[in-house]
Amino acid sequence: MTLHGKKILLGLTGGIAAYKAAELARLLVKAGAEVRAAMTDAATRFLAPTTLQALTGQPVWTDLWDARVRDAMGHIALSRDRELIAVAPASADFLAKAAAGLADDLLSALVLARRCPLLVAPAMNVEMWENPATQRNVERLRADGVLVAGPVAGDQACGETGMGRMLEPEALLAEIEAAFQPKLLAGKRVLVTAGPTEEPIDPVRVVTNRSSGKMGYAVARAAREAGAEVTLVSGPVALAAPWGVRRVPVRTAREMFEAVRENVGGCDVFFAVAAVADFRPRQPAQAKIKREGLGRLAIELEPNPDILAWVTAQQNAPFCVGFAAESENLSANAEAKRRKKGVPLLAANLAPQALGADDNEITLFDARGAHPLGRAPKLELARRLVAHVAALLPQAR
Ligand code: CTP
Repeated sequence: MTLHGKKILLGLTGGIAAYKAAELARLLVKAGAEVRAAMTDAATRFLAPTTLQALTGQPVWTDLWDARVRDAMGHIALSRDRELIAVAPASADFLAKAAAGLADDLLSALVLARRCPLLVAPAMNVEMWENPATQRNVERLRADGVLVAGPVAGDQACGETGMGRMLEPEALLAEIEAAFQPKLLAGKRVLVTAGPTEEPIDPVRVVTNRSSGKMGYAVARAAREAGAEVTLVSGPVALAAPWGVRRVPVRTAREMFEAVRENVGGCDVFFAVAAVADFRPRQPAQAKIKREGLGRLAIELEPNPDILAWVTAQQNAPFCVGFAAESENLSANAEAKRRKKGVPLLAANLAPQALGADDNEITLFDARGAHPLGRAPKLELARRLVAHVAALLPQAR
């Protein structure tokens, strides 16, 4: 219930992507939001209001002069109690109207009369999107503080290929959830490592660990939601990159180290969430190791670089957050590790329980002591961690 009780106005304008807005409405309701829908005339040509009515459980609004709204004040009444207006799909025509402050139909009037943030998800033909007039309108909207989610490139309903596809409903849901997060890291650059590493034994076998990457991906997403520009250096995991996060995929600890070295410059915060293999096979076999003739097999290991230690040792090092997975004596081990690693903040959890799970229980250790974040879904914990880091940042830099 990530949007529990949130009052959202979902606006639809004319475009074939309107069919995706039906799925978005369903996802919003499922996430706990109270969704009111308003459609332009053109939108009703692509999707029946009945569909949205069934999905949201509320009447759908289409007419500026709707007699159901008292005193013909629909444009004010319908948006007054809303916490967010999300217009998806947002046509070129709608963006132009919103940028100019026109209000000649119900949806544009609601948008103009709003007190809450506005998010638009453009969807249109590539030429319409690239037209300087549309680009100008989008720039104007951004400058006015409007959140512009997408579009993305891809195949278009008109048969052309290019920029202009609306974001998929899941990505839009994530953007809407992000819109409700405080922008605690606005203007900051953040680097995150996540997942396990894989150290080759031979061309088909690896030494690795059971890290799922979920915590690191949650931290990357939470930092992005908080307004940061985020790079995620990720070991091999089965997770989609959070929307708006730049992902650099790596396999081995040394590749991860390289990627961190290349991306850490200019960063304000470094979250070392990855479960980096401390050791790697010293001499990986060039060909697959065969069983015949081998009684026992010993694999000699040599140490990998300590990525976090390297970052903390840099001049102008970013604010570094270490992670520790301990199997016992959490407090004593974690505080000792914080000192040993020389990081201002260490996030500690109990190891086997956290692996692969969607929930976690984390305690933060900093110069002022221990701060239990409690047990919660990893995204929620990541948001609390980001808030803690944001509060420490001014003193730390
Ligand atoms: N880390 C890293 N590079 C490594 C090993 C660890 O950047 N080669 C980072 C991890 O991402 C984590 C922190 O260091 O943020 C702590 O990792 P951990 O493996 O728990 O620390 P170690 O010092 O290796 O302690 P232990 O002996 O408990 O494994």
